[in-house]
Amino acid sequence: MIVWSVISASARENKMSQTEESTIAGEHAVQISMIDLLRRSIKEGKSIDEKTAILDQLISYTEVHFMSEQLIMRQHSYEGYDEHDGEHDILMEQLLTINNQVLSNETRLEIKLLRELRELLLTHIATHDKKLANYLASTEN
Ligand SMILES: [Fe+2]
Ligand SMILES: [Fe+2]
Repeated sequence: MIVWSVISASARENKMSQTEESTIAGEHAVQISMIDLLRRSIKEGKSIDEKTAILDQLISYTEVHFMSEQLIMRQHSYEGYDEHDGEHDILMEQLLTINNQVLSNETRLEIKLLRELRELLLTHIATHDKKLANYLASTEN
């Protein structure tokens, strides 16, 4: 799995390589497209099973992605760790709330919460993740 290759690469050299940077950027794109896929399936009135299948994948993928970022932050003794990690927790909570709504088939709420999650995640990527990437880039050389 690509994420694990990122982690081991990071463990080998205590710096973020170009490969890691592009892998993390690629993972953000996957997260957003999974959210969009779920939104489409809600709008198309798909079954709870179909929606849950996408959501389960989104949750697992996001957990692994957050873990890999957290590991990189630890390896670099990153000062913004707690704040960044705190936002990961908020995003995971939002995902679990959406999961509950999907299980109760609350379509309108699902769409609303998913829209909020998409915004929160994009903001997280543009702020905390960007700050981390800039920090790692500045520690090179
Ligand atoms: Fe992050
Ligand atoms: Fe991220």
